[in-house]
Amino acid sequence: MSSIESKKILLGVTGGIAAYKSAVLLRALQNAGMEVRVVLTQAAQAFVTPLTFQALSGHTAYTELLDSVQEAAMDHISLARWADLVLVAPATADFIARAASGHADDLLATLCLATRAPIALAPAMNQQMWLNQATRENLERLVKRGYLCWGPDDGAQACGETGSGRMLEPEALLKHAQAHFAPGSLDGINVLMTAGSTREPIDPVRFVGNRSSGKMGFALAESLRDLGASVILVSGPVSLSTPFGIECIRVETAEQMRSSVLVRVEGCDIFVGVAAVADYRPRHCASEKIKKHKETMTLELVRNPDILAEVAARGRPPFTVGFAAETEQVETYAETKRRSKGLDMIAANRVGTDEGGFESDSNALVLIWQGGREALPMMTKSLLAQHLAGRISERYHARTRS
Ligand code: PMT
Repeated sequence: MSSIESKKILLGVTGGIAAYKSAVLLRALQNAGMEVRVVLTQAAQAFVTPLTFQALSGHTAYTELLDSVQEAAMDHISLARWADLVLVAPATADFIARAASGHADDLLATLCLATRAPIALAPAMNQQMWLNQATRENLERLVKRGYLCWGPDDGAQACGETGSGRMLEPEALLKHAQAHFAPGSLDGINVLMTAGSTREPIDPVRFVGNRSSGKMGFALAESLRDLGASVILVSGPVSLSTPFGIECIRVETAEQMRSSVLVRVEGCDIFVGVAAVADYRPRHCASEKIKKHKETMTLELVRNPDILAEVAARGRPPFTVGFAAETEQVETYAETKRRSKGLDMIAANRVGTDEGGFESDSNALVLIWQGGREALPMMTKSLLAQHLAGRISERYHARTRS
């Protein structure tokens, strides 16, 4: 694979408010050494002008399919052949629908049909439009055809609503592009993961559980997918929707998580345990709701199986990565866990503080493997996941080579 510096990116800009960020993205890609040409749809030009992109890129910004002057500069088939990656950012709901239907009614849609390069979409739209079944089905069709989907992000939207649908920031999109071309690609690699919490029932309405939201695990699943891996995610109860291109199996208890993992672990190359699996479960689950007759109540708990340790102890184990959630002596306890469970790598995080760990959108990790260590400072879980996925890929390939 040639170096990232020489990669050619065709940046497609469609008509959403996030189009103003595409100019920053163009600069970021160029600063990382990539060559960029820009195509704007008609709707994009209501938000940003071709001149902005022409001035920044130093090349014609293409807008027309049937224009002899533009076609003379570089015809659309040559442009489609030129690209190593087509990145559509922002990708509106309308563009996604047109691409899913195979339209060729403007230059960008035509290029997407004509190119052999991978196509990455950075969706940007109102949160209800993102949740709409039509948008989800359109994207699913595209992902099945091999389109990459980077984002979207959660947060405040230009329309005043809050939710999922914001375009990823240019810096995050650059990271995706770099990871896409990085030599540590996970093309053809099978990853099995756990995420979220488990719920251990006390009676039909109560359970023993913990604060895990699944954010860290779901972000990592997306980053590993973006490196080319086929990802199966076994998740406890979380309120996150299944990311595109990932098979997600929903479970409740540690025992269900264990059996879902064990039936799928054969043939998996990498296993990552991000789930906060309950270490103990009530010995008995009452068949009816327990009444509050008594002043105190004793719950007898029994140990749950350790899924991660069981995977690592297999005859020919996958490359096995664990997490360690600690409130004190984070690295010391994590390293003890790594050794005692026989893991290839462990990602340690401090929990029980205001910043990072459970539920938060940010986190910090210390990665430890045999003979190595790397501290990843506080950042969004999405960015952190990209770093971690890159390191997992690198260590996995190093183990495979040795
Ligand atoms: O989900 P979020 O809200 O985003 O929060 C992220 C997180 C804090 C949950 C995550 O970053 C994290 O630390 N996950 C591991 C939590 C945990 O249970 O750590 P532990 O130190 O208790 O367990 C060590 C490892 O063994 C983990 O990989 C765990 O998945 C695994 N384990 C533990 C017990 C068990 N019975 N089976 C297991 O597989």
